[in-house]
Amino acid sequence: MTTVLVTGANRGIGLEFVRQYAADGYKVIATCRDPKDSKDLERVNGDVTVLPLDVAEDDSVAALAKALDKQPIDILLNNAGAYLDRGVGLGEFDYAKWSQSFDINVLGPMRVVEALVGNVARSKRKLLVFLTSQMGSIADNTGGGSYAYRSSKAALNAAVKSLSIDLKPREIACLLLHPGWVRTDMGGKNATLEVRDSVSGMRRVIESFELEQSVAFLRYNGETVPW
Ligand SMILES: NC(=O)c1ccc[n+]([C@@H]2O[C@H](COP(=O)([O-])OP(=O)(O)OC[C@H]3O[C@@H](n4cnc5c(N)ncnc54)[C@H](OP(=O)(O)O)[C@@H]3O)[C@@H](O)[C@H]2O)c1
Repeated sequence: MTTVLVTGANRGIGLEFVRQYAADGYKVIATCRDPKDSKDLERVNGDVTVLPLDVAEDDSVAALAKALDKQPIDILLNNAGAYLDRGVGLGEFDYAKWSQSFDINVLGPMRVVEALVGNVARSKRKLLVFLTSQMGSIADNTGGGSYAYRSSKAALNAAVKSLSIDLKPREIACLLLHPGWVRTDMGGKNATLEVRDSVSGMRRVIESFELEQSVAFLRYNGETVPW
């Protein structure tokens, strides 16, 4: 049975990944900061185990790794993320929030990968997926602003490029995904994509992704995003 672990699984895109993978018979490890307050996750049918994980806390990541021991993880889906500087411009920077953005969006997935790479190496599929953003593309930045969010996703992309090189000998592949502009708490009501369509698109991209393509930066529909 294929096992997928999802971070930030209690709402938005993460929750929809859990719903769809569970409905298709995958074994799902759904992680979130507060499992006691994750009613939507509790309602998902299927083989779903909910475990606590705050990606910004070393101890929380270590506890998850301990709980999962040598359990194989086929797809490690680093979804948890935060957009903390919407509408904040030059002259208004909040450096604590900028630092927090890096802690969640860059160090978070790296902590999780460092702790669980052995579990992924033990699996058949051996795939690391990262929810990044087109806003982290330097080539595509025509709008400016969002310094903390943009720079954190660009740094994530750079770190994952190194990971892809270092992990190739272990046949572990890395995929950076832009989900589109999606109607979630983060994307807001005006977003152009339903979460269901974004996730089903990303699942098709994940399904067909091969080690030889690692690392790729792709949209939910499989198009390439410029770095
Ligand atoms: N929506 C979009 O249009 C869009 C576009 C481009 C990229 N993305 C990326 O897609 C991913 C998911 O976005 P979304 O739209 O689903 O966002 P969302 O609705 O705001 O959900 C964010 C998720 O991340 C979790 N999270 C935040 N900080 C965390 C931490 N320290 N430890 C563990 N979990 C944490 C949240 O948990 P809590 O409930 O505990 O806060 C929540 O489950 C993010 O990486 C985002 O940057 C989204």
